[in-house]
Parts: sequence; C-alpha cells; structure tokens
Amino acid sequence: MAMAFLPPWLLVSLLILLPISTVAQSNGNITAGDSLIAAANSSSWLSPSGDFAFGFSPHSDKDFFLLSIWFANIPDRTIVWYANGDKPAPRGSKVELTADRGLVLTDPQDQQLWSSQTIIGTVASGVMTDEGNFVLQDREFTTVWESFNSPTTPTDTLLPTQNLTRGGVLSSRQSETNFSTGRFRLRLQQDGNLVLVTVNLPTDYANEAYYASGTTSSGDPNPSSPGRVLVFNESGYMFILRDNGQQVRLTQGQPVESSADFYFRATLNFDGVFTLYSHPKASNSNRSWSPLWSLPENICVASLVSEGIGVCGYNSICTLKADGRPMCGCPRGYSLLDPDDQYGSCKPDFIPGCEEDRLSPPGEDLYTWEDLTNTDWPSSDYALLRPCTENQCRQSCLEDCMCAVAIFRLGNSCWKKKLPLSNGRVDSSLNGGKALIKIRKNNSTLPVPDPPSDQYPEPKKKNQHTLILIGLVLLGGSAFVIVILIVAVCLGRFSFIYHNKQPKIIANASSVQLNLRCFTYKELEEATDGFKEELGKGAFGVVYKGTIQMGSSVHVAVKKLNNSFQDGEREFRTEVSVIGQTHHKNLVRLLGFCDEGQQRLLVYEFLSNGTLAGFLFGDLKPSWNRRIEIAIGIARGLLYLHEECSSPIIHCDIKPQNILLDDYYNARIADFGLAKLLMMNQSHTNTAIRGTKGYVAPDWFRHMPITAKVDVYSYGVVLLEIICCRKSVCMESDLEDKAILTDWAYDCYQEGTLDALLEYDAEALDDRKRMEKFVKVAFWCIQEDPSLRPTMRKVTQMLDEVVEVLVPPY
Ligand SMILES: *[C@@H]1O[C@H](CO)[C@@H](O)[C@H](O)[C@H]1NC(C)=O
Ligand SMILES: *[C@@H]1O[C@H](CO)[C@@H](O)[C@H](O)[C@H]1NC(C)=O
Ligand SMILES: *[C@@H]1O[C@H](CO)[C@@H](O)[C@H](O)[C@H]1NC(C)=O
Ligand SMILES: *[C@@H]1O[C@H](CO)[C@@H](O)[C@H](O)[C@H]1NC(C)=O
Ligand SMILES: *[C@@H]1O[C@H](CO)[C@@H](O)[C@H](O)[C@H]1NC(C)=O
Ligand SMILES: *[C@@H]1O[C@H](CO)[C@@H](O)[C@H](O)[C@H]1NC(C)=O
Ligand SMILES: *[C@@H]1O[C@H](CO)[C@@H](O)[C@H](O)[C@H]1NC(C)=O
Ligand SMILES: *[C@@H]1O[C@H](CO)[C@@H](O)[C@H](O)[C@H]1NC(C)=O
Repeated sequence: MAMAFLPPWLLVSLLILLPISTVAQSNGNITAGDSLIAAANSSSWLSPSGDFAFGFSPHSDKDFFLLSIWFANIPDRTIVWYANGDKPAPRGSKVELTADRGLVLTDPQDQQLWSSQTIIGTVASGVMTDEGNFVLQDREFTTVWESFNSPTTPTDTLLPTQNLTRGGVLSSRQSETNFSTGRFRLRLQQDGNLVLVTVNLPTDYANEAYYASGTTSSGDPNPSSPGRVLVFNESGYMFILRDNGQQVRLTQGQPVESSADFYFRATLNFDGVFTLYSHPKASNSNRSWSPLWSLPENICVASLVSEGIGVCGYNSICTLKADGRPMCGCPRGYSLLDPDDQYGSCKPDFIPGCEEDRLSPPGEDLYTWEDLTNTDWPSSDYALLRPCTENQCRQSCLEDCMCAVAIFRLGNSCWKKKLPLSNGRVDSSLNGGKALIKIRKNNSTLPVPDPPSDQYPEPKKKNQHTLILIGLVLLGGSAFVIVILIVAVCLGRFSFIYHNKQPKIIANASSVQLNLRCFTYKELEEATDGFKEELGKGAFGVVYKGTIQMGSSVHVAVKKLNNSFQDGEREFRTEVSVIGQTHHKNLVRLLGFCDEGQQRLLVYEFLSNGTLAGFLFGDLKPSWNRRIEIAIGIARGLLYLHEECSSPIIHCDIKPQNILLDDYYNARIADFGLAKLLMMNQSHTNTAIRGTKGYVAPDWFRHMPITAKVDVYSYGVVLLEIICCRKSVCMESDLEDKAILTDWAYDCYQEGTLDALLEYDAEALDDRKRMEKFVKVAFWCIQEDPSLRPTMRKVTQMLDEVVEVLVPPY
C-alpha cells in the first residue's frame, strides 16, 4: 500500500480526482423511491445544466462516503453542501427519496445515519437545481425541504441566490479534508447582527464575536433598521438587507467577473475566514478558485477572545498569509500536540512550571530565550510591571517560575504570562513590542537524590500529574476531557489530604544539609549576642534577632523552639527539610537550623517591616492599595503552601502576628510547617486545638477532619481585619455588637451599611466595588461548613477578579 505513505492531503486530492463513472440522471428530476448506493463507482443526480451533482463523495477514509452536493463541471470536486460530516457513511450505504420522510441515509445494516427533517406533507419529487439547491416538493410543487435552507444540517458554504435569514448559521468543518463540525460559525443573529464567532466544542457555546457587521437596531439617538437577511445574489454580490430595504455591502470590493463566465461561492473556511471565491466556468482554464474578498480583514488580530482558544490552538502563533488566511505555528521550544494538526495547540518540549525549578540546583542557568518581535498573546497575563526595562522584564520572568512568556512593549511595560497562552499572533501594530519566550534548556537537572526505592515518590508523580493536566487543558473542552479533568483534580485533592495525614519522609539528613545551613548552638548564641534582642514570642517559641556571616553579614531571626516535642532527630530534620524546600515570594525563607540534643532552633531571614499586626493595628491607617496587595500576597502564599509546593502544608495558625512584611511591604507568611513539626503524630481528627482564638476554624471543635480549609477560615478573618484595620476580637469597643468583627461585618453587610466598617477610610470608599467584593470573599472563607469555603486557588481568582464573587450564604 504505497498510498498509505502519502501525506493525507495528497491522498485526498488523488481520491477526489479519481474518475467516477457517474451514470447520472440528467433532468434533475427524481421521484419518490429513487435511491443511490455509496460506492467508488456510484452514480449521482445532476442538475439540468450539469453544474451541480447530488450524491456520494469519497471521504478521506476511502471506505467511507459523504452525502453531498458539489460543482460537477470543474476538475477538483468542490463540495458545497454535506449531510453527514460527523457520521461518514460506510461503503454500501443508501440514500433514498421517501414519500413520508424525505431523504433518508442508512448504512448497510439499515441504521439511519441522517434524514432531511421537518418534512410537512408528502414528498412527490426531488429536484437538483442549477443553482445548486436540492429541493423536495409535494404533488403541488410546493417546496417542503431544500438544501439551501436546512437548519438541522448546517454546512459551510453559501451559493448565489442562497439567503441566510435571521437565526441562520454556517458552520465550518474541522479541516480541509475532515468534514466533522469545526469551531467557527457565521450567524445572522436575531438582532440583525452578522457575526463570526468561535464556539467551545462540543457545545455550541459561542465566545465573543471576532467580526460583527453592526447591523442592529441599536444606535441611540438614531436607531437604525436591523439586518433582515444576508443576500448573495446571482451577480456574486453579498450584502445585508435591512428591514427598511437598505443594503449594507459586506466589503467594498465588487466581483469584476461576470456570473456568466464564473462560478461563485462563499465559504466559512475551517480556519475561520469567510471568503468569497470565483472559478472560471471554461474547462480550458487552468485557474482554480481564487478569493475575491474575505472577512475579517486580519483574523490573527481580530480574534481577541478572552475565553476560548482563538484562531490557532493554545501556545500557537497566528501569522496572516497573503491570501487573508491564517498560518499557525509553534514558537521554538514548543511543538504540535497533534503533529497532524497544524492549526492545533502547541505543547512545551520541557516540563514547565515551578515543580521543575524547585528540583534544580539554585543559581543554575535553566533557561534560554527566544525573542519574537511584534508578537503577542494578548490574554493570559497575570502581572504587569511598569515602568520596567527590557532587562528587568527578562529577569523578573526568569525568577518567576509561573512566568512562561513576558511581553515587553515600548513604553516600558512588561506583561508576564502563564500557560496556556492563547490568541497568539504576529501584529505589526505592536511597533516593535517583543515576546520574550522562556525556554528550559533541560528538564530537571538535579538527579533525584538517589532515592532508596519509594522514598522520593512525590515530585515525580506530581510532574506526571501536571503534564496530564496541561495536556488535557491543551486538548480543549470536550465534555469527556472535562470529566477526566474533574476526576484528576479530585484525585489530586484526595492524595493531598491523604499525604497530609501521613507525614512523609522527604529526604534524609544528608540532603537537609544541601539546602539548609546546619548551625551549632554556640554559633547561634554568638549570632544573637546571647539571645539578647527578643523580636517576638509565639506558640512555638521565642524569636531573637541575630547576625550571621553568609558572605557578608546578614540579619536573621532565630526561633528557639519550645521543648514540647519528644520525637526523634530524623523527623525533625525531615520536617525542617520540607520547610527549607518551600520557597515562594510570599513566604518567609528558612536559612538554617540547629539540632543539638534538646536545643532546636530555626534560622529565618529577617524582615525589616515587622508583622502585619503591627502594621494594621498601629496608630496610622495604612493605605488601601497596600492593604489590598498584602491581602492578595497572603492568599498567594497560602495557595502555594496548599497546592503548589511538592509537599502540601497546612499552616494551622494564620493570623496577622504570623505574617511579616519585607522591605517592600510584601506579605510573607511565617511559621508554616511548624504545626506539623511540633505535633508529629498529628492525626486527622484531633482534639488538641491549635491556632489562635479568633482565627480558629470551627472544624477544630467539631472533631472534623482538619484540612486546608482551616487556613481558609483564618484567612477570611485576617482579610476582614485588613479591610477594616481592626482586630477580630475587640473587647474595649464601645458597643457590644461590634466586639466580634465577623459578626459585626456580616450585620453591616446584611443592612447595606458596609461603610460603617471602614470608618472614613476615603481610599477604600472610593474603591467601594472592590471593597465589597473583598468583604464577600471573606464571608465565603469563614463559612461554618468547610466544604462551602472556597479553596485558596478560588480565593486568589476571586481577589484577582478572574472569577465572579457570588453572594455568600449566611
Ligand atoms: C418530475 O417528474 C414528475 C413525475 O415524473 C413530473 O410530474 C414533474 O412534472 C417533473 N418535474 C419537473 C420539474 O420536471
Ligand atoms: C459498481 O461496481 C460494482 C463492483 O465493482 C458492480 O457490482 C456494480 O454493478 C457497479 N455499479 C455501477 C452502477 O456501475
Ligand atoms: C433572498 O432574499 C431576497 C431579498 O429579500 C429575495 O428577493 C429572494 O427571493 C430571496 N431568495 C430566496 C431563495 O429566498
Ligand atoms: C475528523 O475530526 C474529528 C474531530 O477532531 C475526529 O474525531 C475524526 O477522527 C476526524 N476524521 C478523520 C477522518 O480524520
Ligand atoms: C446584485 O446586487 C447588486 C448590488 O446591489 C446589484 O447591483 C445587482 O443588480 C444585483 N444583481 C442581481 C442579478 O439582482
Ligand atoms: C496557465 O498557467 C500558466 C502558468 O501557470 C500561464 O502562463 C497560462 O497563461 C495559464 N493559462 C490560462 C488559460 O490561464
Ligand atoms: C523533557 O521532558 C519531556 C517529558 O518527559 C520530554 O518530552 C522532552 O523531550 C524533554 N526535553 C528535553 C530538552 O530534554
Ligand atoms: C542536559 O542534560 C543532559 C543529560 O542529562 C546533560 O548531558 C547536559 O549537559 C544538560 N545540559 C544543560 C545545559 O544543563
């Protein structure tokens, strides 16, 4: 089978060119009871002039056929209507003109594949017309069905004299040779607007239009007449006819060719471009179909859809070709998910994201750059840096494991983007703006520290997880995929909870030293000048300020742990190593530890601006914008602890005293991992309540499983405190009903008097919409029922205004 080695498109062209010995009935008149059989030599029903034929066309899979109408007088078969794109008919299938059901297509087993629906009355005859319309008539020659107007079988082509009325739709195919339903639609909406949209298959949910004619009735104070019908007349002109008879030409271009010498068709191509084509009728011409005009003008730039996939697949880049059609391609470092689908999504050739970065030795040069001028992915951004130089932009993206691409625009803005990227395009109007694409040189370079069999199972498993998830996301939203995704996510959740139940052995003592410095007690005693300056006192011990030598002298915070635990050295070092491996810009970094007999100390970086408690509850009310940044930062840090680091951590004691502020007032969560460290044999239902009064989730009192949702609860309380700049419990308050912040806030919310919470905070009052949103998020977080509380991921999405915040239940 030499043919099997040919590229599919060539194969199809060959098949289409195969001489088909058509024994055709040529007056176009078919009577009830006539039928055609699907076969290589099958006959067809021709129109009187022979311009059009109705019958079976070969499919790209040569054992299958497509019931279709095509131009019969030109060399390459050009299909203009097809019945069964999603259900190809096997060889031997039959289409029959029946009196009661119109056209019926059945496979050799007599299973119905398709039928012309909505037949009223009895069909007497069928006619293949010279316009390309297949018409079913009753005995009075009244039309009961026609291929020009077959809403249950939308196809992709309009022919001259064929109208698209309100509610009418053209639907693209999958690819040039695959007639399954594609994801582009041309619709004349009920409001008279003609639009081009992408839909999210397999549903018909339409994204924002990427072209709209604007022929609606709106337009105060001069309302115009809405579009009634899209007319494609015999001369090859296409216009929208308004209710008042006015014509709106679709493009300024006019067909210079005459309909006497040329065939016309207007097709919604599989790549989303709606094009008017002409083809000479003369058989001695060697010209094929040539485009006369197309919509939209530049599909790469027109198609900014905030949801959905855009013209090319995810991570792909759209370039406009000279014929007005798009070309899709993967950037360097990425390749096609489906090598046969040039227009599909691209996947990175490396494992993207934070997991991999974490496994690499620090300071390693992990990435190279691909710079593409005038290239952009206008959605998918999650951070904007401005003003910013190109080098700062690059550096910021490099240091941020979430960042896949940074777009640097002249005018000094830097947009950081995460995967999957969508709506990628080349756009000359970017005036030299650049896409800086981060490409990993290698997959994780750190040899996973020789794991004695199953000691190091987590990171690897996670990678596969991530890959599968990314793959699924890339595949787009078929229902099946979504179900799998949900199952995968649930499994992820499950294993997350499961892992928390059983403290994991992450590394042995030797790898602790890889990441963290091991201090002697004496060293730390000297560093803190004999534990002189006390910074704070917490549930786990006292914190002292110190100075150590790490190249230069560095201020540190040394935490002397209470001797309240009896567990062995191995567990201590294991947990410390977990903490030491957990890096995020919203977490306080552990630098080292000391483990000498009963003396156990942790050495953290020192943060200059103290705790959030001092910041919020001081004399001066901090600025609203800074508070917002802090609230979002804490949420990100918690999200990282819960979901994104390799060994998930429940904090158990989120409160303003445990949140520190660095030089730039970034929120940094402290003391994470300690709850577990100090209660090694922590079981899932625990009577020993941890955490701090006022912030503790009710789960602790109710013998419920302790999950990450306890942190969500505490976060909700802290969020309210940040909004209101007051403590959650305030006994000296003048009024009793204000003593408990959560209750008071809810009362205010119910009564619509949220302003009272803010006490003349002008900045926050000016930003009332956001303030209300944040209050609602807080109420979601402090739901009694842990299952009602959102995850931290959802919380960050709500705070970032990526998803809507619904009205919280009482
Ligand atoms: C089609 O054939 C039927 C019966 O043979 C005849 O009555 C009818 O007039 C024909 N219609 C056309 C349009 O030729
Ligand atoms: C088509 O070919 C098959 C076998 O190859 C033959 O039996 C059949 O009669 C042919 N039909 C027509 C209409 O030529
Ligand atoms: C298409 O619309 C035009 C204008 O309304 C009308 O004159 C014509 O008859 C319509 N053609 C068909 C086939 O319905
Ligand atoms: C056509 O595309 C659909 C959807 O992607 C796919 O399921 C089907 O297998 C394809 N058909 C052929 C013949 O390639
Ligand atoms: C088609 O429409 C154009 C523009 O309205 C008009 O000039 C032309 O006469 C029409 N042709 C026919 C055959 O109606
Ligand atoms: C056929 O194509 C050739 C080269 O592509 C061109 O020179 C020639 O003029 C064409 N003939 C006609 C009739 O268009
Ligand atoms: C990285 O790993 C992925 C998945 O295992 C693999 O497909 C890819 O080829 C690797 N890339 C490099 C540069 O080693
Ligand atoms: C990538 O990994 C390969 C094999 O693990 C190694 O030989 C190569 O030096 C690495 N390249 C870089 C740039 O780290």
